[in-house]
Amino acid sequence: CGIVGYAGARPALGIVLDGLRRLEYRGYDSAGVAVVCADELLTEKKAGKLANLEKVLAERISADPTGCREVGIGDGTTGIGHTRWATHGGPTDRNAHPHLSPDNGVAVIHNGIIENFAKLRAELEDDGVTFLSDTDTECAAHLLSAALAELRAAGEPDGPQLLVAAMRAVCQRLEGAFTLLAVDARVPGAVVGARRNSPLVVGRGDGENYLASDVAAFIEHTREAVELGQDQIVLITPDSIEITDFDGQPASGKDFHIDWDSSAAEKGGYDWFMLKEIEEQPQAVADTLLGRLTETGEIMLDEVRLSDQDLRDVDKIFIVACGTAYHSGLVAKYAIEHWTRIPCEVELASEFRYRDPVLDRSTLIVVISQSGETMDTLMALRHAKEQKARVLAICNTNGSTIPRESDAVLYTHGGPEIAVASTKAFLTQLVACYLIGLHLAQVRGVKFADEVAAVVDQLHQMPGKLRELLDRIEPVRELARDLKAEPTVLFIGRHVGYPVALEGALKLKELAYMHAEGFAAGELKHGPIALIDKGTPVICIVPSPVGRGMLHDKVVSNIQEVRARGARTIVIAEEGDQAVVPYADHLIYVPRTPTLLAPLVTTVPLQVLAAEIAAARGHDVDQPRNLAKSVTVE
Ligand code: G6P
Repeated sequence: CGIVGYAGARPALGIVLDGLRRLEYRGYDSAGVAVVCADELLTEKKAGKLANLEKVLAERISADPTGCREVGIGDGTTGIGHTRWATHGGPTDRNAHPHLSPDNGVAVIHNGIIENFAKLRAELEDDGVTFLSDTDTECAAHLLSAALAELRAAGEPDGPQLLVAAMRAVCQRLEGAFTLLAVDARVPGAVVGARRNSPLVVGRGDGENYLASDVAAFIEHTREAVELGQDQIVLITPDSIEITDFDGQPASGKDFHIDWDSSAAEKGGYDWFMLKEIEEQPQAVADTLLGRLTETGEIMLDEVRLSDQDLRDVDKIFIVACGTAYHSGLVAKYAIEHWTRIPCEVELASEFRYRDPVLDRSTLIVVISQSGETMDTLMALRHAKEQKARVLAICNTNGSTIPRESDAVLYTHGGPEIAVASTKAFLTQLVACYLIGLHLAQVRGVKFADEVAAVVDQLHQMPGKLRELLDRIEPVRELARDLKAEPTVLFIGRHVGYPVALEGALKLKELAYMHAEGFAAGELKHGPIALIDKGTPVICIVPSPVGRGMLHDKVVSNIQEVRARGARTIVIAEEGDQAVVPYADHLIYVPRTPTLLAPLVTTVPLQVLAAEIAAARGHDVDQPRNLAKSVTVE
């Protein structure tokens, strides 16, 4: 879910809605706002995308700007807003946030899951509270209202500190993951936030301050941000930011400057963010490579709390991630094992955490996460640290939780990725994985500065190759129109082409809602080949014929096998590869690239294909159904 809060001198509603628009990638099945107006809370919430809420608000304001009040919902200068990815309770108006206390005195929004909510709800119902929704969040609203009433009854003066004290009391009762924001009608000019396991950052303005799930929400207003720690409560007013811990002790966040260009979070003339982000890949790869080599040819990480000796002691690597990031890890395994000779396993974070993996001080865990907030990955990281393993993070989001809790970090400089389906983040994750492989090989003396420099040089050629590839991508768009009505598309590849096949299939599932599966090409004959019928499209990722000729020839044989059974073959091969020509119904050439680095180019046509098929089928390319970009629940 996406969360925004504002306290300042300008009308809050527009600022909160703009922020929600930038956070909509975090969930979009309902949205809501609450604004403090004079001594009243005005709220609106609506199922569906943010546009539904905006429409209702526009109608409400144009029909009656102030609602016969002194200050209308469009004018109050303190507000909160939420865009939801449903966990407890379906995506209805009723379950949309904010949730209110029965007297409409306080409004609460929440991201995360309150794990003890059933118990809390039963207790509250025993006390006579009537629930209006099926959400876990509503408990927090009732608890906050009760805590405020108790404090007021005890004679505590009204004001922001009262809200902080009440929030503290609520947090002490909650288990699980939560970011909560609350406003109180009787405490204008203050928003209180609390965070445990879910993201929350503060934006420091001039005479105004912001709270949000991520900096994209306020980047057009301020570049100065404060990262909150675990179990902290923050109070923002127009002129102050005050941080305490859950025991009420003063605490501090970590100040940071946001160097993203705010236009990076705009569509800039493209129909979809995803198409823009695909186009940005040459730059994203170049930026991720920028300044990584020292004068003596060593690779630099961004934050290192690990010694070279720690890295020399590593005897096993686990790469842990989810979704597309997991696929970048699958590619990394080939490069890391080849370059370092350290055994390397790749695991889905949600599985790794719960299967009791064998870890110790000499295990290196590489966690990969674009957002830095994926709960499955975060929990895997914490589990690894409990077992004393060292953790190195690859992340795109400064100020997020995963890099903060890791022992070392390599940031991908992909810039904000808004489309739910990951594209430029994936390519930059690949680059980061290659750099980490090289760094480990170098520290351990397996590769030397000149060898590392040679691979880095090949990497430096990638932005140019990607540009070239994107400049002649049109035939892929045509192919998309051709494939849009297919019930099934299969993908095959070997070696690093196998994870590319998985990624191609994932993209198609996510965006086009088509049945798509990726297979190791050699495994096809052990079962999946039975799926092939007359005309079944099979997308074949062919390795370079140069260097690993045997691998290339094996895939060419696999293409013949599927073709012999009626498949329609769409072949992605290296420029100049003539061997595939007789077996390709459609041939897409990609620039020549050394095998290990090839996923940087072979993935791109598959991204374009999925986006274009989705658009041709009339789907929302940036916000596919049921998904969210940053999944902060397990
Ligand atoms: C979600 C998104 C995927 C993404 C995955 C991991 O499921 O829909 O596109 O790959 O999370 O996200 P992360 O931020 O950890 O890379």
